[in-house]
Amino acid sequence: MQHDNYVVDDMISAKAIAARVEAMALEINDYFADTNQLIVIGLLRGSFMFISDLVRELKLPVEVDFLETSSYGDSMESSREVRILKDLRGEIENRDILVVEDIVDTGHTLNHVIRLLESRKPARMMVCALLDKPERREVDVRADLVGFEIEDKFVVGYGIDYAQRNRNLPYIGAVRFLDE
Ligand code: IMP
Ligand code: MG
Repeated sequence: MQHDNYVVDDMISAKAIAARVEAMALEINDYFADTNQLIVIGLLRGSFMFISDLVRELKLPVEVDFLETSSYGDSMESSREVRILKDLRGEIENRDILVVEDIVDTGHTLNHVIRLLESRKPARMMVCALLDKPERREVDVRADLVGFEIEDKFVVGYGIDYAQRNRNLPYIGAVRFLDE
């Protein structure tokens, strides 16, 4: 796909994503098999497509809630300072929760979110991320379940944006700037 000054190179096809999401859901179904109700928490906005596909594969009694943290703005660099822009609607104390993130990059966002949610004393917490860029990590962060480990490239699609665009792509691609 061609943009003003960049192109998006294919990276992970819609078919490969669907297969991996299905496999991840099997692990979640197993882990929470005995739950009486699982709260699936999507981190806005990047996880909206992932969470919608993932919950359709869950064979558990499920609730859905969302949390929004401050983002990169239009930049490609992490701000490292994480703020909560929209908190959960529901309580999570003594509840089983699944945290759904799009990408773990430096790790600051997930680290902050995990610590916040842990302070609310959930019964069990599982953290899953569709993508992981381990080379970029600055803080040690725990993701129990990762869809794909990828190299250090700025990616878009399947809910993930660059300056708010490309979220609607059904696949994941890497941004490549064209020479001026
Ligand atoms: P971290 O705090 O550096 O781990 O950043 C995590 C957040 O930054 C993710 O939830 C994404 O919203 C965003 N992000 C990280 N890498 C990318 C990327 O390659 N493309 C688009 N957004 C990204
Ligand atoms: Mg995000």
